[in-house]
Amino acid sequence: MVGDVVTEGDVDPVGAGSTLPDPFELAARWLPEPDSGTTPLMTLSTIGLDGYPAARTVLLSRFDGRRLHFHTDRASSKAAELAATPRAAVTILWPERSRQLVVTGDVTTVTGLEARLAYTARTRYLQVLAWLNDHELAELGPGERRARWAAFTQSHGDDELEPPPGWVGYAIDPVRLAFWSGATDAPSNRLLYERAGDGRWNVRRRAG
Ligand SMILES: Cc1cc2nc3c(=O)[nH]c(=O)nc-3n(C[C@H](O)[C@H](O)[C@H](O)COP(=O)(O)O)c2cc1C
Repeated sequence: MVGDVVTEGDVDPVGAGSTLPDPFELAARWLPEPDSGTTPLMTLSTIGLDGYPAARTVLLSRFDGRRLHFHTDRASSKAAELAATPRAAVTILWPERSRQLVVTGDVTTVTGLEARLAYTARTRYLQVLAWLNDHELAELGPGERRARWAAFTQSHGDDELEPPPGWVGYAIDPVRLAFWSGATDAPSNRLLYERAGDGRWNVRRRAG
């Protein structure tokens, strides 16, 4: 536990008792169980090669108790950006729960085995997409794109698919986590955790 006492009158965004939890405990409460098969959407922000931020939506493949995993194509812009600067932020929104989690951290690639397991866990549509979705196909007309999709799915039938050669997984190791909670009868509020040089976490409550 992080030893910061919640003061009376605070909006308690975590629904916890009198002390603030470790950030990974809290993340585990907010995020799906590792093998639940639930994959929330995240806005993944990287540092563009031109210095501007680059943002797009990806699925959270897995939270392993510390790191957040996502998967993509090695030929994508985000892969090139992460090779140049292995740092990223992800923003996950639960509008129905009035919650937002922003995690910023250092990015590494995951093992081949882990990437394979994540591929197997994806829906058939997403497995096929990972094989077909390249820039060459994107430039074809809609009829030709459909025909290529049909040809691929027909030729593979119900066969188990291997991940394509460019399939790659990344994991963000957090240096900062911001848990935002909104309310209709109280101000929104954040719990901001920042990793100190000694590896311990500083935690502050901030306005939402
Ligand atoms: C709902 C949704 C989920 C997506 N999930 C992923 C994903 O898990 N991995 C991925 O590479 N792209 C995913 N995409 C596509 C990306 O948003 C993006 O367009 C693509 O990866 C190319 O990004 P880049 O050129 O910035 O690398 C998703 C898009 C949407 C709308």
